[in-house]
Amino acid sequence: MKFFIDTANLAQIKEAQDLGVLDGVTTNPSLMAKEGIKGQENILKHYVDICDIVTGDVSAEVISTDFDGMVKEGEALAKLHPRIVVKIPMIKDGIKAIKYFTEQGIKTNCTLVFSAGQALLAAKAGATYMSPFIGRLDDVSTDGLKLIEDIRIIYDNYGYETEILAASVRHPMHIIECAKIGADVITAPLSAITALLKHPLTDSGLAQFLADAKK
Ligand code: G3P
Repeated sequence: MKFFIDTANLAQIKEAQDLGVLDGVTTNPSLMAKEGIKGQENILKHYVDICDIVTGDVSAEVISTDFDGMVKEGEALAKLHPRIVVKIPMIKDGIKAIKYFTEQGIKTNCTLVFSAGQALLAAKAGATYMSPFIGRLDDVSTDGLKLIEDIRIIYDNYGYETEILAASVRHPMHIIECAKIGADVITAPLSAITALLKHPLTDSGLAQFLADAKK
């Protein structure tokens, strides 16, 4: 399973990259705003800065909601760096845009997916990645992980190559459950990824080994 980091924070992206287990980055307009990145020129430069840190795919989201606007924005984003993946919302024109980019050989990430039907459409349009938001489903008392299970079955039934990118991951158990189900990718904050490291028996065991090594 691939690990993507879900942030636009350069220090956190670098920390995850240095850990040696990072396969890519996802961003969205909210994450860019959180870092205080404003203005088209600065936003584009920030995407290039991210691409220069990592060795994997970097999702950059369009803000247009019509086909022509998404194509124009997506083509400009794709030209920024070979690692850029154009992130497109799950709306009617978004599906058309994904199909267009697929035919042009440009990678896409279909975002804001909340149902198996939406996931099926994204795969039929040829999306490289398809992002179900599991945490936001949990927030409204709907089982986000059950959606990942359903999509896994559907994609495997027909051999769709679109990768299931579990997004809106909030904690380490989400990551472990996604791995059990067979999600292709998770994108998570650095805190959820590094939380996988932690176990009190590791800490106490290491303390004991170090103490015994001094004897
Ligand atoms: O990048 C999209 C997704 O991961 C957002 O997560 O925590 O805002 O629901 P969250």
